[in-house]
Parts: sequence; C-alpha cells; structure tokens
Amino acid sequence: MDFYDVIKSRHSIRDFADESIPDDIMKRIVEAAYTAPANDHFRDWHYVVLRDKDIMKNAIAGVPKNLTVKDVDAMTFISDPIQKETYQIAVPKQYKMLIDAAAVIIPLMKKKVDILNPSCLSDLNCYASVWCSIENVWLAATSEGYGCNVRIPMGNEEAVAKETLDIPDEYLIPCFIGIGRPAKGAKPARQIEVDYNKQIHWEHF
Ligand SMILES: Cc1cc2nc3c(=O)[nH]c(=O)nc-3n(C[C@H](O)[C@H](O)[C@H](O)COP(=O)(O)O)c2cc1C
Repeated sequence: MDFYDVIKSRHSIRDFADESIPDDIMKRIVEAAYTAPANDHFRDWHYVVLRDKDIMKNAIAGVPKNLTVKDVDAMTFISDPIQKETYQIAVPKQYKMLIDAAAVIIPLMKKKVDILNPSCLSDLNCYASVWCSIENVWLAATSEGYGCNVRIPMGNEEAVAKETLDIPDEYLIPCFIGIGRPAKGAKPARQIEVDYNKQIHWEHF
C-alpha cells in the first residue's frame, strides 16, 4: 500500500474477525515500533505480545466490561456531536475491542522521570517517543491489512496487567493495543473534517 494510503486508512478498529495473525507478520508489525524517533536515542521500549486468550483475559481484567452510552453523557469534555457519536460507539466496546482482538500488544516505557509531575516539557519526551513507536505499530498493522485500537489504562488496569505479566515496576504502560483483522463491515467512526486552509499556516499564523 502506498504510504499516504496507509496513513489515510489507519483508523481505530474495535470489531474484529475471529482470525489470528501469522507470527512472521506480527513480528514485522511489532518490530516497526523500533524505527520510531526516540528522545534519548535508546529506544529501550519493551513490547509484550499476548495471543493466548486466557492470558489476554487476565491481563485486561481491570478494563471495565459494562460501560454504556450513558457513561458518555457524564463526559463533560465532549463538545461536538461527531465526537460524541464516536465516544458512544467506542466507550461500550473498551473491553470487547481487546478481548476479541487476535492479540493484545502492550508497549512499555521505562519510567526515567515522573511524567505525571513534569518540571518542564522535555520531561515528557519519553512519553512522546513511546507514542511515536505505537503509531509505527498501528501504521504497520494497517499496511498489512490489520487494524488496531488503543486503550489508555485507568484506575487499576495498569497494575492488573503488570502483575499478571510480571512486568517490573520501573515500566509504564502507555496503552493497551488491540490488533486483528477488521470484522466484515467494521467501519471507522465518522471523522471530524479538518479544514486544511484553516489549520495549516504558511509563513505566519
Ligand atoms: C493518546 C490517545 C488515547 C486514546 N485513547 C483511547 C481509548 O482509551 N479508547 C479508545 O477506544 N480509543 C482511544 N483512542 C483512539 C481515538 O479515539 C481515535 O484515534 C480518534 O477518535 C480518531 O479516530 P480514528 O483512530 O478512527 O482515526 C486514543 C487515541 C490516542 C491518540
């Protein structure tokens, strides 16, 4: 697939076909993480790939299973009808989009600074970098004909996954990635149109 076709067709996939991903393809997809730019040149991220359903189930046991569209109404930051529609589709699927995936991929970032209490912007560079690697995985999956979603761990979700998978405390889980073949008819959420003329500026704002 042409590079620009890949980035245009990358969307969150939250409904999957019951199909596994061959090991060699999965390897290519995850290894793509390690060509992402890294703030400190180390790329010392780890990726844990879960394909066994029981292990997936235990690792994501903290993810809420019974969220509904009503929970979206409580989200006061939602300001736009298309944004709301997306959340109404996505929120009830937070558990299903991971457990129905062919695999759950867990990126790990070494906690070198307290990113929840940054003293300056560059304290967040490690978090920005790991997200660059996550985007690489997402794009690689898309180019291979698979789809991904991401879930930011909240509450005890990270602790549950770390305990289940023996992940040392020095690592932070920026997200869970669900990956698999999109289900027939799975369509991305409606997107908010970007007016390039308004949002891209030439020479001055
Ligand atoms: C930093 C970040 C956090 C996100 N958190 C979640 C999440 O917790 N659950 C979820 O279903 N999607 C999550 N998403 C996916 C977004 O909802 C999605 O990318 C956005 O609505 C645009 O839609 P698209 O991915 O289909 O193009 C997240 C995306 C990013 C970049």
